[in-house]
Amino acid sequence: MNTRELSLVLNGVPARAVVETRKTLADVLREDFGLVGTKLGCEHGVCGACTVLVDGAAVRSCLLFAVQVEGLSVDTVEGLSATGELSEVQEAFRRHHALQCGFCTPGLLMSVTEYLRDADPADDDELRDALSGNVCRCTGYQGIVDAVRQLVDDRRSADADG
Ligand code: FES
Ligand code: FES
Repeated sequence: MNTRELSLVLNGVPARAVVETRKTLADVLREDFGLVGTKLGCEHGVCGACTVLVDGAAVRSCLLFAVQVEGLSVDTVEGLSATGELSEVQEAFRRHHALQCGFCTPGLLMSVTEYLRDADPADDDELRDALSGNVCRCTGYQGIVDAVRQLVDDRRSADADG
């Protein structure tokens, strides 16, 4: 069994583990670090359930070997809120019933968190397009679109006031 020491910044905190070089980042997050919020659906880059942020960019953690994130910063759904309170994105999902079984939700929350950093979608079509890399089998997507739309509108109002 080939192993290597992995050092990274995980949810803002330096972390270290000896990991099997064959393991994906998703498996190491879940099995070695116990961060089971990151879900595995398709395991080949299609469903988006495993999305995490690597140095701030949304990536599919089933498509990376864990050793590829040596020295980088990785954020998972567990790191969205340091205090245990819901983050702004989580609260919007709750308010708009943007989840049912919740399996897709961690990946969506990470994708939306990254997307909202810079995006200013003109309409819901643009927003749906941006979220099309995350598959949800339950909600029909409308609640998700409503949640993200509200976040975009709130930000515009705050910018206009400020
Ligand atoms: Fe990674 Fe589906 S589990 S994209
Ligand atoms: Fe069930 Fe999205 S809430 S897959």
